[in-house]
Amino acid sequence: MTSGAELEGRTALITGAGSGIGREAAQLMAAAGATVVVCDLDAEGGGETVAQIEAAGGAAVFVGADVSRAADIEGAIEVAKQNGGLHILFNNAGIFPEADGSPPDTTEDVWDLVMNVNLKGVFLGCKYGIPAMIEAGGGSIINTASFVAVVGAATSQIAYTASKGGVLAMTREIAVEYARQGIRANALCPGPVNTPLLEEFLSDPKEKARRLVHIPMGRLAEASEIARAACFLASPASSYVNGSTFLVDGGITAAYVTPE
Ligand SMILES: NC(=O)c1ccc[n+]([C@@H]2O[C@H](COP(=O)([O-])OP(=O)(O)OC[C@H]3O[C@@H](n4cnc5c(N)ncnc54)[C@H](O)[C@@H]3O)[C@@H](O)[C@H]2O)c1
Repeated sequence: MTSGAELEGRTALITGAGSGIGREAAQLMAAAGATVVVCDLDAEGGGETVAQIEAAGGAAVFVGADVSRAADIEGAIEVAKQNGGLHILFNNAGIFPEADGSPPDTTEDVWDLVMNVNLKGVFLGCKYGIPAMIEAGGGSIINTASFVAVVGAATSQIAYTASKGGVLAMTREIAVEYARQGIRANALCPGPVNTPLLEEFLSDPKEKARRLVHIPMGRLAEASEIARAACFLASPASSYVNGSTFLVDGGITAAYVTPE
């Protein structure tokens, strides 16, 4: 976890910073001294994040961008460069559409949409972010995968799971390739988190219970608990953490039988 002004003089670009984990991470990184480029498709949510950071005395700027569009991401990286250079890149934006299910039930359109946002979006962030980060003298890339990148869910979400597996593999490769150029890259793998992304499930007590039974702690994570891990990966405190499958899952992937 970051403390004091640990990110002073750093600029962090966070995609999907208009809600959930991205918003919490934006607030924490700004509180640690970073200038935050708040990037989101949702201008209202992004604007709110910036307003909250500014109200707390931090520095932030909003960039409207669709992470699946190369020109948008290139533009967002440019904004980071104009605001001190790119030191931290948190590729966090992601979607989890209801229509994503078992392979026979999932349409090609849903598959393509999820891949474009969750996997291509992270690729584009790295494609344009890595040269900017090298220019800035190095930094930290945090790509959001998920615990489903390492374990399977019988409540199938095939495109989502495949996209997150891709993020995990891609992140490892980047971590290895750029380690000697001062760039660290880690895949943040949250367990289920209490954010708008899971709202649909959370509203159905049966669906919620179906998931809670597998979590040793018996509860979902809060967005701030995942954001603190992202801040750790962004900060010098994690200087030897590279290429990791950084699970923050309350012990889900360690569990066989959970407490009654
Ligand atoms: N919530 C969970 O249970 C959970 C678990 C594991 C991993 N994750 C991952 O964490 C990340 C953040 O999720 P969250 O729970 O905070 O979700 P969220 O829905 O609260 O926030 C996601 C943000 O991404 C933005 N976004 C969506 N598509 C975009 C696009 N094409 N371009 C730019 N921005 C876009 C949304 O507008 C929103 O502000 C996602 O990658 C998600 O897959 C979430």
